[in-house]
Amino acid sequence: MWANGTISAQCWSLVVPATSVRTPACARAAGRDVVVLDTLELGDRDAVLDARLVVGNIADQELVRAALRDFGTTDVMHLAACKSVGESMKTPDKYRRNNVAGTIELLEACREAEVTRFVFSSSCSVYGTPHHVPVTQEAPIAPESVYAETKATVERMLRWYSMAAGLRAVSLRYFNAAGASFDGRIGENWDYSMNLIPLAMKAVVLDGHRLQVFGSDYDTPDGTCIRDYIHVVDLANAHVKALDYLAAGSPTIEVNLGTGVGSSVLDVIRAAEDVAGRAVPYDVVDRRPGDAVTTCADPFLADELLGWSAESALDEIVRTAFDWHARRV
Ligand code: WQD
Repeated sequence: MWANGTISAQCWSLVVPATSVRTPACARAAGRDVVVLDTLELGDRDAVLDARLVVGNIADQELVRAALRDFGTTDVMHLAACKSVGESMKTPDKYRRNNVAGTIELLEACREAEVTRFVFSSSCSVYGTPHHVPVTQEAPIAPESVYAETKATVERMLRWYSMAAGLRAVSLRYFNAAGASFDGRIGENWDYSMNLIPLAMKAVVLDGHRLQVFGSDYDTPDGTCIRDYIHVVDLANAHVKALDYLAAGSPTIEVNLGTGVGSSVLDVIRAAEDVAGRAVPYDVVDRRPGDAVTTCADPFLADELLGWSAESALDEIVRTAFDWHARRV
């Protein structure tokens, strides 16, 4: 919430804190005021930079209503979610309560405060294992995890709020978010991450740590899974573009946020070795259940509707991640 601004609700404190917290910084750089609502359960107060911070939960309607009212909020960017695919299968109720029930409370508070512009951090995982790559927005929605189901559910809820409550929304389907801010001020906390790039950084930066490669017998050129890695700063810039899109009065949409380029696990390892100047210690182990073999975005619609396209490739993502983690160690 800002004086005529946006709340970045309960920023992610998991795999992509830089995306969530970096987003307010990008919004600030674009001339907007920002208030961040975050539980700080896994978040970092320092990463909020010069935005204002309200510590709390999106499910606390009284807190959210007061904040929306006190700051005269006009736009909300909703980044709050638990986001581990594997954890969601072990604790589904936690994910449904936080990611869906919490969002209902937030949306009801927005409706009462007459907030009509809403940017939602969704996920490419709503597609499940795509039948065709690159994946367009027309691909079937076929979640393969509770986490992905919660994201697809909120997207559908936003469609209904759009029809019934006049709230227009942009759901941003992140592909694989990674990297750190170019100024080195915001990055990921690898303590909470189960994702490839932070764990590869841990293996190459910390002595005694080894990366596990989940399978090398897939039907891909080098046998390892392929993903579309997208820089967190590119993602953050897309959120600001989405605010501009909504401010122009445009309708509710869902768009992919990816580069359109696929990289394998071994590509990531090679990029890390190029940056670090030393080998990434790793062991090939069994496949991880639920892993899609190949997924990659068709980013056309985001360019067409938001005027956004990714600017950083894998080497830049890995370099900023390495610089961030090496400096913290
Ligand atoms: C990538 C590849 C693993 C860890 C993530 C988010 C999800 C969504 C999409 C936003 C896979 C392999 C990983 C490791 C490995 N984004 N890997 N060893 O599963 O594609 O999903 O991006 O919402 O929410 O979780 O990302 O980084 O876990 O895996 O070999 O220690 O790296 O098998 O092929 P994933 P990931």
